[in-house]
Amino acid sequence: MLRIAQTLEAQLRSAMERAFPQAAAAAQAAGQPLDPQLAPASKPEFGDFQANGALPLAKPLGQAPRAIAVAVVEQLQGDAAFTALCLEPQIAGPGFINLTLRPERLAAELQRRLGDPRLGVPTAAEQSGVAPAPVVVDFSSPNIAKEMHVGHLRSTIIGDSLARVLEFRGHPVLRLNHVGDWGTQFGMLITHLKQVAPQALDTADAVDLGDLVAFYRQAKARFDDDEAFQTTSREEVVKLQGGDPVSRKAWQLLCDQSRREFQKIYDRLDIRLSERGESFYNPYLEAVVADLDAAALLVVDDGARCVFLEGVSGKDGKALPVIVQKSDGGFNYATTDLAAIRYRFGAAPEGDGARRVIYVTDAGQANHFAGVFQVARRAGWLPEGGRLEHVPFGLVQGEDGKKLKTRAGDTVRLRDLLDEAVERSEADLRRRLAEEGRSEDEAFIQQVATTVGLAAVKYADLSQNRITNYQFSFDRMLALQGNTAPYLLYAVVRIAGIARKGGDLDAGEAGGGPLAFTEPQEWALVRELLRFDAVIAEVEEELLPNRLCTYLFELSQVFNRFYDQVPVLKAEPAARPARLALCRLTADTLKLGLGLLGIPTLERM
Ligand code: ARG
Repeated sequence: MLRIAQTLEAQLRSAMERAFPQAAAAAQAAGQPLDPQLAPASKPEFGDFQANGALPLAKPLGQAPRAIAVAVVEQLQGDAAFTALCLEPQIAGPGFINLTLRPERLAAELQRRLGDPRLGVPTAAEQSGVAPAPVVVDFSSPNIAKEMHVGHLRSTIIGDSLARVLEFRGHPVLRLNHVGDWGTQFGMLITHLKQVAPQALDTADAVDLGDLVAFYRQAKARFDDDEAFQTTSREEVVKLQGGDPVSRKAWQLLCDQSRREFQKIYDRLDIRLSERGESFYNPYLEAVVADLDAAALLVVDDGARCVFLEGVSGKDGKALPVIVQKSDGGFNYATTDLAAIRYRFGAAPEGDGARRVIYVTDAGQANHFAGVFQVARRAGWLPEGGRLEHVPFGLVQGEDGKKLKTRAGDTVRLRDLLDEAVERSEADLRRRLAEEGRSEDEAFIQQVATTVGLAAVKYADLSQNRITNYQFSFDRMLALQGNTAPYLLYAVVRIAGIARKGGDLDAGEAGGGPLAFTEPQEWALVRELLRFDAVIAEVEEELLPNRLCTYLFELSQVFNRFYDQVPVLKAEPAARPARLALCRLTADTLKLGLGLLGIPTLERM
């Protein structure tokens, strides 16, 4: 109901201005036009919206807030557009104005969404009048030659869903995979491989990725306690970053191999990403140093060039630095991120011209991002209205509340995790089919098991408030009851079943008269369906996909209550089209909403 809310807000503001012209003029002069403080009603018995704007006016006007509300309502009642939209406003408590939309307007609003592929959700530009500008979503971002782990899976799933919501709202989204393809790890790995498996450095796929990961671990262990190895590794990084052809070739091979492994996961999860790894920013690192120097932000400390942060100090009370260039001349993770920010906000062609840049990583990197964001701001790299946002998430834990591990105590490989989800969903499905005495062909079973298994993994992750740690449980995510993917998918299947049983879901759309609703369960569903646009706008703003999950779950519940309590297929002929229209719009909303979470739906399961 975003559009209605906008209309109401304008009507309320102008009623306030008419009731209190002097206060309005003063507010206008102060650059703060009167705010009706319109919000969705906190309880259904209060109607659809409440406006609390009378309260803050009490002091400047020297009047009781209730009297102010009465005056505003009087003006509203004189506005024909308003009275055509709302029933008579009610004043409650100290001076809240409760607003209830006319039932015929609600029904018309609902009817307008039938057959609309956007289901009434405006683009951000339509809503705000501001022209779209690129939004960067930096997500997934695993590290080459290391295994992609469950943290990267979370980033991948959350980032993809945020990108989908932003795209749906009409923003040009750059989905960037900031893969770790440049740092010290290559120095270690190449140095070690030269000694133990030189063939891996000049022949594609000479060792497999699992071995590569093992080699990386060995290299890391050597690096940590062998000083000579450390020195050689560092020299190797300098060679690579300086463009040495042998190092470059080896690096290229290692990257290609990891990339293919990552791609398998992305394909399976239907994730689109453009790789733009750390190495991409190599040519821009010097410019970062130059800019910071020109802005007089650089300080040489112990041979390293740093920027000291404002308002962030260590245990000793001294300001903490962001190290931009190490004493040996090397650059690091933070330098690369600074170069990336500079490039992303920079104007084309040497930049992305973004207005909003979003990073999806584990909460452990919060300090890193707070630091580089501050440096970027102080360097003046952000355009007017530019937004830098870290979207942190908690750890993935096993059911024991500890870090997720295999039974043997190893880190869980993503491929295995997805395989297991699909296997378990297949076993559940076969059991259910047997219980129901249904027989289905193998293709159906495979398709349903895969869709449900992967949906369960994605949904379980997205439906949590991402900030908290999250306990990974196959049993819970695959359950048919509760806030789970199978529950939502089943609601869609149920509606598809109505059509199979002869219900014409388009009955409400096809040119008939206005839809008429009578039952409270119908009205509850109408109101729930009309909330969809506001939920999408909220996810776009707050970057919390769990809000969308909660909404879809509640919608399914409201629908199930309606469908269990109100006849649809057996409804009186006069009531049938409106009820079928509700079914249709519920299915469309669930499909669109799940689609924005990266979850495809099924017609049967
Ligand atoms: N590669 C990093 C990791 O695995 C994540 C990178 C996130 N993006 C960024 N621009 N720093 O932890």
